[in-house]
Amino acid sequence: MIELLRTRRSIRKYTDRRIEPEKIEILKEAVLRSPSSRNIDPWEFIFVDEPTILKKLSQSKPHGAKFLEHATLGIVICADGGKSDVWVEDCSIASILVQMAAQSIGLGTCWIQIRNRMHDDKVTSEDYIKNVLNVPKQLKVESIIAIGYPAETREPLSREALKDKKIRINGY
Ligand SMILES: Cc1cc2nc3c(=O)[nH]c(=O)nc-3n(C[C@H](O)[C@H](O)[C@H](O)COP(=O)(O)O)c2cc1C
Repeated sequence: MIELLRTRRSIRKYTDRRIEPEKIEILKEAVLRSPSSRNIDPWEFIFVDEPTILKKLSQSKPHGAKFLEHATLGIVICADGGKSDVWVEDCSIASILVQMAAQSIGLGTCWIQIRNRMHDDKVTSEDYIKNVLNVPKQLKVESIIAIGYPAETREPLSREALKDKKIRINGY
């Protein structure tokens, strides 16, 4: 795991290579193995591999989502907010775990923030996505994880580049 963390970077450029069905199965297993508060599992995951839908989703917000158009897969991470008061945490854990699982099998990923973001002046990114994907009313949308075989290499951060001052011992 530490080696995965050492080399992890957000990847926003992807090749056209399809993701093998066995690897998609691994990604499904990864999200379903995510821990959740009180084991409520309030999340739901929408796997999108249809290019026309990915293109629509890439327009969820004006900035920071465009690259989804060229991803091979997008996983829309939603949850029933009425089932758990900490659905944001549950969805965030699933989001990062599937990113790490994808990296472990040679895929590149990037988180696209949806919660608290706007599609335009009037429509939230969440409502835009719910309309595109027919998501039931009670579900909230946290993120979309864009996934594909990497078409860019990004240098891992060196140990020296990490912000050690963020860590304090036995008090602030
Ligand atoms: C909660 C969260 C939301 C993010 N939202 C976006 C996003 O909407 N679009 C994007 O391109 N990257 C997004 N990112 C990726 C960050 O920009 C990226 O992790 C950060 O710049 C550090 O770069 P690295 O992941 O390569 O280390 C998000 C990351 C996190 C953790």
